Amino acid sequence: MPRRNTMFDGLGRGFAAFLAPPPPDVIRFTVGQPDFETPAPAVEAAVDALRNGAHGYTRSQGSESLCNAVARHLHGYGIDAPGADVVVTPGCKQAVLYALMTTLSPGDEVLLLSPAWPSYDGMVRIAGGVPVHVPVQRENYHPDLEALRAAVTPNTRAILLNSPNNPTGAVYTRSEVQAILDVAIASDLWILDDMIYAPLAYGDHHYTSPASLPGGAERTITVGGWSKGWAMTGWRLGWITAPTDLMAAVKTLQTSAATHVPTFLMPAAELALALDEDVRAMRDSFDARRSQMHAGLQSIPGLITPMPEGAFYALVDVSGTGMDDVTFATRALNEARVAVIPGSLMEGGEGLIRMSYATSSDDIAEGLARLRAWLEG
Ligand SMILES: Cc1ncc(COP(=O)(O)O)c(C=O)c1O
Repeated sequence: MPRRNTMFDGLGRGFAAFLAPPPPDVIRFTVGQPDFETPAPAVEAAVDALRNGAHGYTRSQGSESLCNAVARHLHGYGIDAPGADVVVTPGCKQAVLYALMTTLSPGDEVLLLSPAWPSYDGMVRIAGGVPVHVPVQRENYHPDLEALRAAVTPNTRAILLNSPNNPTGAVYTRSEVQAILDVAIASDLWILDDMIYAPLAYGDHHYTSPASLPGGAERTITVGGWSKGWAMTGWRLGWITAPTDLMAAVKTLQTSAATHVPTFLMPAAELALALDEDVRAMRDSFDARRSQMHAGLQSIPGLITPMPEGAFYALVDVSGTGMDDVTFATRALNEARVAVIPGSLMEGGEGLIRMSYATSSDDIAEGLARLRAWLEG
């Protein structure tokens, strides 16, 4: 066999091994996917576009009206990007990869606030960079700003932010985002801001864009998408915007790598951005389940978790049970028929398990009852 690139041999596949459907009697807290169907008007818009002949190649960055709609949407978060500087990507994931490929040179370091969504680590390496994991505060999963400042070296090129956060459920405050931006300004770093969970912040918690703060726009690359807030995971639609000069490189990359997202999805994606009521209803439903999940977890001896503030995850400290996270996850599956993700799949996640509450209220109640009975027994 001809020689191949061996770089991929050491790279993980994130949570992939834990996302396969378990047997039907298992309550599943593993998958990070809304349990709603995509709002019907978006589905109809895609079907209409297909029926009306949207079958061919089109503008690589996304239709002008879709890019303008994304720009208007981002404007609502104080991000001042023209549609000309928006590219619609095959999922937010590919937008993260584009951002890393267009900013990193070999050996450049990227600071990740850890435990971080495991795909980031692999993507930084694929782009030739070096992931540097900076632990967040263990009691509330908010950034440890001292540790972040101390992690900057002459090789640091970027800080990767994700708030609301997967896997921690933390939503960083405006002053924390400002402090992170100050670190970036002081050392002339990029901020890669993954806002995919921005519509899913609860109570008094709100997504803050670093691009909306003074000095932020010139060094922030914003990525996001439709998967989580609009229940459109399988549509593979995301966006990226950044300063014009960087976007020129991103446009070249998208033209080479993907051409564009499917033409008939573009009108549907645009229409979805106007479905504020649907998005709000889904958010309110997750908010109620967040309270249910947190109250239930708190009543189980040995489990500790702060109140999640956004996204749809609880990151639970299981060290009080005397088990490490892999033992906990394995035994919970075999003995309690409950599937969770062991935190040590992520650097800095040892002793923690991730539980997604994007599942029915009945399943949350049943899954927590099973865990309680198992741990008490
Ligand atoms: C933090 C984060 N960013 C990006 C993504 C991927 O989003 P998309 O489905 O748009 O590729 C996920 C999906 O789990 C995620 O948790």
